[in-house]
Amino acid sequence: MVYEMKEEAILELLKQYHQEHLLKYIDELSKRKKERLFSQIQNIDWSFLLYLQKDAAVSSGDIRSIDALTCPEIARNAERYREIGEQVIREGKLCLLLLAGGQGTRLGYDKPKGCFNMGITRDLSIFRLLIEHALDIVEQTQTWIPLYIMTSAVNHADTVSFFEEHDFFGYQPEHLHFFIQEMNPVTDFQGKILMQSKSSLALSPNGNGGWFHSMDRAGLLDPIFHSGIEWINVFSVDNVLQRIADPVFLGATVDSGKMCAAKVVRKSGPNEKVGAICTENGKPHIIEYYELSEEMKHQTNADGSLAYGFGVTLNYLFPIQRLKETLDINMPLHVVKKAVPYMDEAGVIVNPTKPNGLKFETLALDLIHEMEDCLVFEVEREKEFAPVKNKMGVDSVDTARVLLEKNGYRL
Ligand code: UTP
Repeated sequence: MVYEMKEEAILELLKQYHQEHLLKYIDELSKRKKERLFSQIQNIDWSFLLYLQKDAAVSSGDIRSIDALTCPEIARNAERYREIGEQVIREGKLCLLLLAGGQGTRLGYDKPKGCFNMGITRDLSIFRLLIEHALDIVEQTQTWIPLYIMTSAVNHADTVSFFEEHDFFGYQPEHLHFFIQEMNPVTDFQGKILMQSKSSLALSPNGNGGWFHSMDRAGLLDPIFHSGIEWINVFSVDNVLQRIADPVFLGATVDSGKMCAAKVVRKSGPNEKVGAICTENGKPHIIEYYELSEEMKHQTNADGSLAYGFGVTLNYLFPIQRLKETLDINMPLHVVKKAVPYMDEAGVIVNPTKPNGLKFETLALDLIHEMEDCLVFEVEREKEFAPVKNKMGVDSVDTARVLLEKNGYRL
C-alpha cells in the first residue's frame, strides 16, 4: 500500500516534468530495485531543465582583454615571490583541491583518469605524478598541506582503493580528504532523461564548478574555516606537468593584492581550442574558444601578441573567505553534448560512439567570474602544460609523454 502511494506521487512528479517514461518497467522491478529508482528520482534537482534551451556559457557582456604577469616578469621577482609563498604555506594558510570527479570520456579509459599509467617501463600513474609534485613542496617547506580530492559516485571507490594500494604515494593519509560531488541526470537531445537500466537513471557528475558546494555538503568547510587556511589551490587531474602548491604562484598572488589567480599558457595560435582569460563587464572571465569571433581570435595587443592569447590551464588560487560568500549563489549549468551509454526503448543497452546525450555541468570558470579581479600568471607551456584529454592526437597520452620526457621524467 505504501509503495502504491509512493508510486502515484512519483508518477505525478514525473508527469509535471514530462518524464513518465522513467517508470516504464516499474512492474518488472523487485521491491529493492523500485526503491532505488524512486530514490534516484526523488533526488533529482529539476532546475537542470531550465538550462535545456540555453547554454549559460555564451557571454553577452562587454568582453575585453586582460593583462598578465608574464614569464620574464615572474623570473625577475621569482625569489621574492617564492619567499612570500613559502611563508604562507609554513603558516598553514594553503590547502589543495584535486578535481578528479570527471568521467574522462575522451580518453576512453575504464578507470579513474588519475589511475592511468603514463609510464612505459615503470609505474607512473597520473595520481602519482600529481602527488609527487605536492610532496616536493611539502619537503621544501617542511609543512604538510591538506589535500582534498573530489571524486564522483562513479569513480570514488576505485580512486580511494588506488590510493590505498599505493600507500597514498607517500602523502600522509591524515592530510588527505576524499569527497564525492553530486550527480545530474543525463537527457537525450529532447530533454528526456536517459535510463541506464530498467531500474536506474543515467546520471553523470555535475561538473567541475560545484566543488565548494560539494565540500560544504560533505562537511569539510567548517574545519577549513576554523583552521586559518586562507587559500585553496584548485587543479585538474589531467595536466601531468603542472606545478601545484607552487610557492612562486602563491607569492605572486599575495604580492599582487588580487583576489584570485589563474595559471595560464600562451595559446599555440589563434585557433587553439582552449578557454581564454579576459574580462567581462570588468570582472575576470573565461571565454570559450567557440565564443570568440574570427576578429577577436586574431585581435592583437600593441606588442603584436594575441589579445585573447592566454589559455587557462585549470589551476587556480581562490581565497577561502570570498568563496564562503559564493555559497549562496546558484551556479549556472552548462549543457554539454556527450556520448552516454543508455538503455533504448526496447530495453537494450547502447554504447554510442557519437554524442547522443546532454550533460548538465557547473564550470569552474563561473567561480572566477564571482571574483573582483584575478592575477593572470603565465607559465611556460613546455614546462607546465601537458594535458591528457584525448586517446590520440592533440592533448593526448602521446603528446603528454613527449613533454614529460623533455622535462627529464623517465617513463
Ligand atoms: P574535463 O572538462 O576534461 O571533463 O575535466 P571530463 O569529464 O573529465 O573529461 P571528458 O570531457 O569526458 O573527456 C576537467 C577537470 O575537471 C574535473 C576532471 O576530473 C578534470 O580534472 N571534473 C570534471 C570534475 O571533477 N567533475 C566533473 O563533473 C567534471
